[in-house]
Amino acid sequence: MHTLLIVNSSPRSNSVSRRLTRHVAEQWTAHNPDGRVIERDLVAEPLPFLTESWIEASTTPAAQQTPEQQQALALSDTLIEELRAADVIVLGVPMHNFSIPASLKAWIDLITRAGKTFSYSDKGPQGLIPEGKQVLAIVSRGGSYAEGTPAFAADFQVPYLRHMLSFIGLKSLTVIEADKQAFGAEVAQQSVDNAVNKLSALSESCNAQLAASS
Ligand SMILES: Cc1cc2nc3c(=O)[nH]c(=O)nc-3n(C[C@H](O)[C@H](O)[C@H](O)COP(=O)(O)O)c2cc1C
Repeated sequence: MHTLLIVNSSPRSNSVSRRLTRHVAEQWTAHNPDGRVIERDLVAEPLPFLTESWIEASTTPAAQQTPEQQQALALSDTLIEELRAADVIVLGVPMHNFSIPASLKAWIDLITRAGKTFSYSDKGPQGLIPEGKQVLAIVSRGGSYAEGTPAFAADFQVPYLRHMLSFIGLKSLTVIEADKQAFGAEVAQQSVDNAVNKLSALSESCNAQLAASS
């Protein structure tokens, strides 16, 4: 049985990124009727920010953790288990103030755990999430941040996501952009249509890969 993990972080009811993650989920479910879909809606169910007791618990070796420390880490453990269980991970990521929403940053903080999802050795940092997962980020933004344009340097959304996911072992990230949402209705719709076409093509190759691996 294959597993799809969807993580949504837009606070908007008419969200572009949510529409596109829904499109992926529908296509995936049509091809994997017996599959499991885990949805993390970071707005409907916000995650807590890191606290001092969480940091102390996460830096205490598992065998020495108190029941309170284990409890402090329980949500982080669940989120990491969801990641590990997923064959396909789809992130809906609106650009907020040139970066990702704070709700998604909270998710990243809880899944980035020393000894669990990354470690340091003499070879440098090593991601501990097993290879082979397909990771897709659907990024929606008002402007355009294309390479070669002055705005490119102001994109702290995609480079940050790419770095953090790679840091925990998710090295192969596909990014689908629905940009130019502030450029008028026609341009915005064209951008969404382009994203839908790319997602449909991706979904076919993704389903073929999953079928080959099962
Ligand atoms: C709080 C907030 C901050 C935003 N900051 C930016 C920004 O820095 N750059 C940008 O291009 N668009 C920005 N936008 C526009 C959104 O990225 C755009 O509306 C996108 O469609 C949001 O995704 P969603 O439709 O899934 O919510 C911002 C929107 C909001 C609500």
